[in-house]
Amino acid sequence: MVGYLLVLFYLVLSVAIVVFLSVAIVVLLPRYNAIPQQAPALQNKVVDFKPYFFVAPYLQLGYRNKPNDNSSLSIIWFMTNKFELSFRYKINSNSNWHLIDVSAIEINAPGHTPKYEYTASLRKLPNDCTFTYQIIEGNSIIFEAKAKGHKGINSPYKLVVFGDLGSFSEGKSQIASLVHEENPDIIVMPGDIVYGGGTVAQYPERFFPFYNSDNAVLNIGAPIMRSILAVSSVGNHDLGKRGNEDAIDFSKHPDLLGYFYFWKQPLNGPDNHRATHIVLDGDLSTQEQFLKETAHCFPRMTNFSFDFGNAHWTILDSNLYSNWNVDWHNSILREWLENDLANAQNATWRFVAFHHPSFYSDLNHPNEENMRVLSPIFESGNVDIVFSGHAHCYERSFPLKFKPDNELATASVPGKFIIDKNYDGNTQIKPKGIIYIVTGGGGAKTYPESAPTTDQWQPFTCKYFVDDHSFTACNINNRRLTARQITAAGIEIDRFVIEK
Ligand SMILES: [Fe+2]
Repeated sequence: MVGYLLVLFYLVLSVAIVVFLSVAIVVLLPRYNAIPQQAPALQNKVVDFKPYFFVAPYLQLGYRNKPNDNSSLSIIWFMTNKFELSFRYKINSNSNWHLIDVSAIEINAPGHTPKYEYTASLRKLPNDCTFTYQIIEGNSIIFEAKAKGHKGINSPYKLVVFGDLGSFSEGKSQIASLVHEENPDIIVMPGDIVYGGGTVAQYPERFFPFYNSDNAVLNIGAPIMRSILAVSSVGNHDLGKRGNEDAIDFSKHPDLLGYFYFWKQPLNGPDNHRATHIVLDGDLSTQEQFLKETAHCFPRMTNFSFDFGNAHWTILDSNLYSNWNVDWHNSILREWLENDLANAQNATWRFVAFHHPSFYSDLNHPNEENMRVLSPIFESGNVDIVFSGHAHCYERSFPLKFKPDNELATASVPGKFIIDKNYDGNTQIKPKGIIYIVTGGGGAKTYPESAPTTDQWQPFTCKYFVDDHSFTACNINNRRLTARQITAAGIEIDRFVIEK
């Protein structure tokens, strides 16, 4: 009897186990199969998302507030619609991808439908690296590019400088192609980035298609800004000014001052006292909308400094405003500049860039010498080269020292010169003074109709060239700098060496 009961018990238990396992297999297995074991694989090819890019990605210094933050870069892009995007990068082809956060904010420039500004901040990039980055939507790569990081202080690198570029001209496109061929490590653009008002609408028409195109097409455009860090100063056309008008007038264009939407540069300049002095004009609600959208960077982003490789750069706003409190006679601005250069004495090179040149022979901009009042500060700060534009030509001064007769002068600023004419940039390569470069041949029309003849050159002018567009390329190798001026036809029209 007991044996019979045991057999019956094991029989029932076996049936129960079989039933349980069958139910488990029938019910649970399909669910298990439905749960993805890993995120869907990314499609390998880059899908076409161009219609949604208002402005394709480009490299910027970012809003960092320390000049010597040599390890970070920001990638910025603007979209017409809001998307959930992710961003990843890798240093070389064999390393792992690094996924980093993307910030997105809605931008409402006056007169525009909302746009969405995205930022990916890359921190602690190793020096001298190149990296690949991708923007991902869902499981699709919607943008990919290769880019260069910062340079180490002992690394050789190439710098390109040119201003006065964002207009419709054949020369501008030729310069873009040649700069792409030069493949520099950094580009500095000393103002007049976009002509016709420098508006938000004009940037995607007159600037980005030529300097951040998807493909390099000879004498049309090149994918420069997505791969190479570019830095700019603010020119008169970037403020919507054709000359020295008093106010920034929004009645001309409601979306004026595109500079403050698209450039993301350090906010380490003098404090915001200028905001209370720079005069805006035009429709009040348009002014308020602009100030709301750019409250974090206008007008502070007009003066700043940063380090790249073994050089310290100081970027200044040379525009004249209606109130001298925002010009370079002002003690707040001057003290900031003095301190900035004093703190940069460990750098091998000190470069300054701003739009309106201090010293020039070109006849098109008489009596715009206001920046000369800063020459004594540059000299005590051991500045090596000052780069400007504004005049659509190339000029190189002899190394010089200058003391203005009147430190409060504007327009015409006479003073006393000490000019080093022994320096020839070839056999005599240790200048005694600062070399002032005008490199405003980036694309706006040149001025051959009013070029001075050689005997009309100012005594401080060493080279003057106005017959074609051109740009400056400098190879910097530790304490030796070799500069070349290249025309839109690819011809070298000047070369000089500085060794220190
Ligand atoms: Fe200008």
